[in-house]
This record gives sequence, structure tokens and C-alpha cells, in this order.
Amino acid sequence: MAHNKIITGIDVGTDKCVTLIASVNEDQSLQVVGVSAVPSRGMKKSQIIDLEKVLETITESLDGAERMAGLEVKTAYVSVSGSHIKSQNSTGVVAVATPNQEITNSDVERVIEAARAISLSSDREIIHVIPKDYKVDSQDGIKDPVGMTGVRLESEAHIITGMSTALRNLEKCIQDLGITVNDFVFSGISSAGVVLSETEKELGVAVVDIGAGSTSICAYVEGSLEYSGSLPIGARHITQDIALGCRVSIDTAEKIKVDLSNKKIRPLTPHAGESKADFSRRKKQQDDIKVSDYDNSDTDEVLSHKTITEGIMLPRMQEIFGLVGDLLKEQGLLKDIPAGVVICGGGALTLHIAEVAKRELNLPARVGEPTKLDGLVKDIHSPLYANVIGLLYYGLNHGQPDSVSNFSIGSVFSGFGSIGKLPEKVGSLFKSLLP
Ligand SMILES: Nc1ncnc2c1ncn2[C@@H]1O[C@H](COP(=O)(O)OP(=O)(O)OP(=O)(O)O)[C@@H](O)[C@H]1O
Ligand SMILES: [Mg+2]
Repeated sequence: MAHNKIITGIDVGTDKCVTLIASVNEDQSLQVVGVSAVPSRGMKKSQIIDLEKVLETITESLDGAERMAGLEVKTAYVSVSGSHIKSQNSTGVVAVATPNQEITNSDVERVIEAARAISLSSDREIIHVIPKDYKVDSQDGIKDPVGMTGVRLESEAHIITGMSTALRNLEKCIQDLGITVNDFVFSGISSAGVVLSETEKELGVAVVDIGAGSTSICAYVEGSLEYSGSLPIGARHITQDIALGCRVSIDTAEKIKVDLSNKKIRPLTPHAGESKADFSRRKKQQDDIKVSDYDNSDTDEVLSHKTITEGIMLPRMQEIFGLVGDLLKEQGLLKDIPAGVVICGGGALTLHIAEVAKRELNLPARVGEPTKLDGLVKDIHSPLYANVIGLLYYGLNHGQPDSVSNFSIGSVFSGFGSIGKLPEKVGSLFKSLLP
């Protein structure tokens, strides 16, 4: 391989754990060299509830991606989400340090540090400090003050925080695999980076990443990140509703939901000369869902397409966007996002999701396809993988050059089993970390 810089993203979700490894080309484009998505175990509402199972899950995903890439990962960008994520905006002020009053990088660093000084309860920590804009003396709205002249430098910053326990548990899992966490990245931020356009951000827009167990939201106003947060509701609730409403297992309900979402049916119209009875029969046939097609049993139970999509899936989607709308309204943001919402995460693949969002929020809505990557990318160009693809771009934009030189080329992976890195007695060690 010609280049020796790689970036790794690990997304430990409620439903799936994905590891994506990309090499950085000389032109700073990314080439995927390893990818592995495995079903998650030990996660609920985007948080760890069983460390041992999560460790096994990450090991399996990481091993798969490493084997495919033929290299050993040393550092990774790791996604975080869940309702413990909160945000606030803060202002920092410093006096310009140089005698000629020309603002330098060090002044900018100091003012960001000053904005970072927020009062935080002892069980929380800062994940991101994102400068929104700067004010030099009385001139505001400045995006890059370096080189300008002034006496007083002020910065407004968006600060995202999370529960220390959630972050430490996740870090411990990753570290136990011999990997250093470059940065934790809130899934709203990573997804926004690959599904939103600069024009949308300037106009005002919110990214809504609907995962299985939680929904992450980031709202941009006039190009700056204004709000970040998360709701403890996701696409798994739709599956659970189908399971309950149709009295089928969660697995069967999941298959039915995905299938109905994948093959949209067209409303039927009567053929010329078709009798009412024949038309009704055809409609009934189209509406019938045979449970045996999904659970491999010999049951003759039949469900109704219309009841599932309109009576079960639709109300839950309406509830999700009702809550998203309440949250944005509470923050006073609904009127500031004329570009509407861009939906990603697996939930974005639910039947008619954008139409439901449009109606519930009274705003434009679209499903966000992530930025295209080169390399081993079969199946990953989907809203389902926006977050993990976003982790790679986050790493590309935020990583120090040496922090991406994190692999040894040509590692030999013979006998590297799927739980090869799992340390002994890890369960008892980790159980002590759970809240
Ligand atoms: N083709 C599809 N059609 C409809 N729903 C789908 C489809 N593919 C995946 N989903 C749903 O998306 C959800 C998983 O989304 P995603 O992989 O983004 O979640 P996650 O990242 O594991 O969870 P979280 O971010 O909440 O911790 C599941 O509820 C799944 O049913
Ligand atoms: Mg997710």
C-alpha cells in the first residue's frame, strides 16, 4: 500500500456495531479498506447495559474490519449517542496578547478555552467545544479572526456534554482491545458532516439520526451549530409496536417492517371492465401479509398491510417527529430551520418517513444519503451508515497528521480469532464500571 495513514471509525449502536477503516490518499480523499457490521449485543437506547457483551460485539466487528484490511488498528474515532447527550452555548472573552494586537492562533485557542469554562455537574464531561463565531472588539459574526487586529476577542461556542459513566464504559471497552480513542464524536455531529450541504447549514437545518434505540439531533442556524440533543426513542419502537399489535415475535416484526419499507406498493385502480368483487379480491390479495413468509412456520395467519403501515407504523413515526418538533420548538428553533430536516440512521429507511416528517413538522424533509467513499464500499452508501462514514470525515478534518498514522502495514492475522483480543476475566472487571 502506497500510503501509511488510516482512519478508523467505530459505531457501537443499539442494533449494529460497525467498524470502518479507510486509508487516507495523498489528495486527502478516503479509500475504505475494511468494513464490518455485526449485530449489537448488550446495548439499550444507545447505552451499554452489559459490558461483556458489548466487548464481544466490538471485538467481532473490529476483527472483521481488520482482517479485511490486513492491518491492525491502533486508534479510532468512536461514536456516542443516547439521551445523556446535552448541549449548551457559551461565551469566552480574552484580551489579545500580542503587542501589535494582531490576533494569533494562540489567542483563538485561549478564547475557546475560556468558552469551555462552564459549570458542569461532576458526573458529566465535555465531548465537543465547537466555536460558532467570533467577535473582535465590536465587530461580530467573524468566522476566522486570525490575522485581524483588535483588543478584545470574544467567541461563542457550542458545547456538547455527556455522562462520564457512559463515556468511560465505552472507552474501557475500546481500550481493552488495545485501541486508543482519538475522540468521542456525538452521532449527530458525524452524521451531519456527511448528509448536510453547506447551503442547508447556512439556511438553517436539523439532522435527525434515527437509530434503533435513540434519535440524535443537531440543528444548524446561519451555518453554526446551535443545538445538539438526543431522544430516547428510535426505529426499534416501530418494530416493537408491530410485534405487540400483530402478536408476532420481534424478529418476525423486524422482517415484516423492513420488507414493507423496501417494497413500496402502489395503490390499485380497477381494470377496465373489472367487477367490484374481482377488484376487492385483488385489493385484499395485495393487502394480505402471510406470517409464514417471515417466520418459516406453517401458520396460515394473515396480517393486513394497511393496518401495519397506517395503523401501527404511521402513529409511531408521527410520535417520533412530534417529539422532534417539540424539542426544536422548546429551543426556539423551528422558525430558524427553513431547510427543514434531513433524516438518516436506519430509521430513515422506514416506509414514507420523509413524507411523515414533512407533515408533522410542517417543514421540508428528505432522507440523507452520506457522502460517497471509494474502496470496499458495497452496501455502505446508505443512511444506515451515515454516522460511521461521518466518523471517518470527522477524523480527516480533526486529526493531527500523526494521529492518523495508526497502523502497521502487513500485520499477519493468522489465527486471529473473533474473540482473539478478549481478555480473561474481563466480565468481572467491567461489571464494576456499570452504574
Ligand atoms: N431497510 C430498512 N427498512 C426499515 N427499517 C430499517 C431498515 N434497515 C434498518 N432499519 C431499522 O433501523 C434501525 C437500526 O438503525 P441504526 O443501525 O441506525 O441503529 P443503531 O445505530 O444500531 O442504534 P442507535 O443509534 O439508536 O444506538 C432498526 O430499528 C432497523 O429496524
Ligand atoms: Mg446509531
